[in-house]
Amino acid sequence: MSVASTREQWGSKLGFLLAAVGSSIGLGNIWKFPYLAGENGGGAFVLIYLACILVVGLPIMIAEIVIGRHTEKDPVGALRIIGAGSRWEYVGYLGVLSGFFIMTFYSVVGGWTLGYIVKSVSGAFDSIEDVAAAELIFDNFVRNPVEAIVYHFLFMSATMYIVIRGIKNGIERYNKVLLPLLFFILLVLIIKGLSLDGALDGLAFFLKPDFSKIGFKTVIEAMGQCFFSLSLGMGAMITYGSYLSRKEKVLGSSLQIVVFDTLAALLSGLAIFPALFAVGMTPDKGPGLTFNILPVVFSKMSYGTVFATLFFLLLFIAALTSAISLVEVVVAYITDEKGWSRKKAVLICGSAIFILGIPAALSFGVLSEFRPFFGNTYFDFMDKLTTFYMLPVGGLLIALCLGWKYGLEKTMHELDSDTKNAFIEKLWAITIKYVSPLTLAVIILYFGVYRLIAG
Ligand code: PHE
Repeated sequence: MSVASTREQWGSKLGFLLAAVGSSIGLGNIWKFPYLAGENGGGAFVLIYLACILVVGLPIMIAEIVIGRHTEKDPVGALRIIGAGSRWEYVGYLGVLSGFFIMTFYSVVGGWTLGYIVKSVSGAFDSIEDVAAAELIFDNFVRNPVEAIVYHFLFMSATMYIVIRGIKNGIERYNKVLLPLLFFILLVLIIKGLSLDGALDGLAFFLKPDFSKIGFKTVIEAMGQCFFSLSLGMGAMITYGSYLSRKEKVLGSSLQIVVFDTLAALLSGLAIFPALFAVGMTPDKGPGLTFNILPVVFSKMSYGTVFATLFFLLLFIAALTSAISLVEVVVAYITDEKGWSRKKAVLICGSAIFILGIPAALSFGVLSEFRPFFGNTYFDFMDKLTTFYMLPVGGLLIALCLGWKYGLEKTMHELDSDTKNAFIEKLWAITIKYVSPLTLAVIILYFGVYRLIAG
């Protein structure tokens, strides 16, 4: 049976690029990045994050797309090929499991964005005066089990609706429309934010590094964020790369994905911090930043309802285009390895994710005191387990498998091979073989030991 000949492909290189950028730009950029920067010394976090991207993120992005393009397989099949049939395929399983786990809490937050669009449109934020009022709205919303589960269900259904339509007619088609819309909304919000009085303080906070807030925890936060934001370490890019035509080379696309993702994170900061400072609020509010503080910021602006709705629409689009890729990893594995039809795979996996996401949806209400996971709620546990452990470990193993087990020589032709890029190819080879794995190993080991000691 020749799977490769019947396997779907992207309609164009641009289609691939937009889908991959859609995967990487998500809640990680707009929800997580600004609050992480807010908690970790603004510009100082941004600098460490950029360093992680250069040393680890970009090289592994190239590696994953190379592996996908080269093998034309889902992550399990791909790792089986480059790991030469040995145990390396478990790295693929780790990836599929990561996709599954991430989706259980990602879909819950995706559901919140839908709920917040409804709230904004219906004017729920029009007259709130302070953060306490916004917090009350948020708490009541996430604590309500029916709302939390219904919105999680709706978000999951939207994701499945697109994935079921396949690569070209589903994923590619929707990303082509949604991604430009995302950047447009982001620009509108930035212009609005920067036009407010006092916006410059926010800009200064975001761009001026405060190194006193930096510790080892910042480094692992930045590294985890680098993997999460770029959709790395679990085979999402292997999967998307596997639908890329043999004609295409991967160096340029990888660079473009990383640049767009980083740009989106920085632009989100630009959209959020100036507005925040303009209304006299502080940025160190953690995960609640987006949902608790921004509604207050918007309520103090002219045309606040419009901008609030736009913002949560932006968040929804970003979440949706990423969720699609998370589900696609699981679906690709089942269709490639088990021979199920796409429809059956999406329906069954999607339902399973929905069910396993229910405890995450309830983690802020009924189950908020249910913390058997090292003191974490189910939601927090899934988030930390995947971001700090599964993705970086997956990335490390992917780099080792390609660099040491399979050997880079056999895949070099997947990059652009004209002499212009010979230097860059060499640089990538050294980085993916030595620099990225060493950096990752040190951080993961140190973090593991640190956690054990510090509890
Ligand atoms: N990159 C996405 C985000 O930033 C999340 C994601 C992680 C998507 C891993 C796919 C794989 O929100």
